Amino acid sequence: MSNWPSREKFWENKRVLLTGGAGFLGSQVVKKLQAFEPAKIVVPRSSEYDLRCPNVVRTLLAQVKPHIVLHLAARVGGIAANKAAPANLFYDNLMLGVPLLHESWEAGVEKFVGVGSVCSYPDECPLPFSEENLWNGYPEETNAPYGLAKRMLIAGAKAYRSQYGFNAVTVMPVNMYGPGDHIDLATSHVLPALTRKCLEARRRNDDEVVVWGTGVATREFLYVEDAAEAILLAAERYNSSEPVNLGSGREVSIRELIEKLVELTNFRGKVVWDDSKPDGQLRRCLDTSRAYEAFGFKARTSFEEGLAKTVEWMDSEGLPL
Ligand SMILES: NC(=O)c1ccc[n+]([C@@H]2O[C@H](COP(=O)([O-])OP(=O)(O)OC[C@H]3O[C@@H](n4cnc5c(N)ncnc54)[C@H](OP(=O)(O)O)[C@@H]3O)[C@@H](O)[C@H]2O)c1
Repeated sequence: MSNWPSREKFWENKRVLLTGGAGFLGSQVVKKLQAFEPAKIVVPRSSEYDLRCPNVVRTLLAQVKPHIVLHLAARVGGIAANKAAPANLFYDNLMLGVPLLHESWEAGVEKFVGVGSVCSYPDECPLPFSEENLWNGYPEETNAPYGLAKRMLIAGAKAYRSQYGFNAVTVMPVNMYGPGDHIDLATSHVLPALTRKCLEARRRNDDEVVVWGTGVATREFLYVEDAAEAILLAAERYNSSEPVNLGSGREVSIRELIEKLVELTNFRGKVVWDDSKPDGQLRRCLDTSRAYEAFGFKARTSFEEGLAKTVEWMDSEGLPL
C-alpha cells in the first residue's frame, strides 16, 4: 500500500471528464476532486451532450482531451422505475457505457473508471456478494435490464484492456444514500423514499405509514461521500479490469431501517407493511475486501451517522415545507 503515489501528484495537470458529475454521486465526486486541483474538471450535462450518441461522445472527447474519464452518467431508479421502464433502463445504460468506453480508448484517454452497480449480481448469489460470483447467474428480475447493461461495462473494460492495453477499471457500488439524493417517490431508492414517507407522515400527523414488502429484505447502504472517495481512490491506485465492490460492509433489514427512521424523524404513528408489494432481492451485502486490498478503500461513515445527516438534510433542504 505504501507504493501508492501521492494523491495530489496523481491529479496534478490532469484534465478530468466526469460524466454524470451533476448527479447525486457525481456532485460529491466533483467536490472531492476540486480539493486536488486537477487542471480541469469537465461535467457534460445531458441537455447539451446526450452521451448515448457516439458522435456526441466523440465531439466531447475531442473538445476536452481528458487524461481521465470518470463515467458515472446513468439512468437509475428504484424498484418502481425499473418495473415501469425496463427497456429505457437497458438501452440508456448500455448506450451510455459502450460508446464512451470505445471512444475514450480511440481518443487516447489514460484511464477510464466506469461505475457499475450491485444490481449486476445474480439473484441467487451466495452472501456476501463476492466479485468472483458476479457472472454466476441472472440478476433479480426487476433490475435485470439495468444490472445487465452495467455488467457490460465490466466485459468491455476487460476486452479493451486485453486487446489494446486500455486502462479501464470498474467499480460496483451498493445502494448509496445521503444528502442530495433523489426523493421523487416514482423513481427514488428505498432509503430516501422511506425517509420522505416518514417525514411527510410526521408533518401531517398521520396515524400510519405504509411500507412496501415485509421488511425482511436486507440492503447494504454506502454513504455518498464515502462512495465518491472510493471512486477517486480507484482512479488513482487501481489498474486492473477485475470489478471491485464498493460497500460499507453493514447489512441492514428494511425493518431496522424503518425503525431508525421513525426515531430520527420523530414520527409517532405506526408502520403498516404492504406485503402485496415486492421485497425485491431478499438479501444484499457485499464482500468489501477487494477494495481495501486493491486501493485502500474503507467506508468511514457509520450507518447511524449517515442516516442522521440524510434525515437532517431532507427535513431542512431536500423536502421543504
Ligand atoms: N444511487 C445509487 O444508489 C447507485 C447505486 C449503485 C450504482 N449507482 C451508479 O452510480 C452512478 C451515479 O448514480 P446517481 O445516483 O448519482 O445518479 P443520478 O443522480 O441520476 O445522476 C446521473 C447523471 O447521469 C447523467 N445522464 C443521464 N443520462 C444522460 C445522457 N443521456 N447523457 C449524458 N448524461 C446523462 C445525468 O446528467 P444531467 O443531470 O445533466 O441530466 C445525471 O446527472 C450511476 O452510474 C449509477 O448507475 C448508483
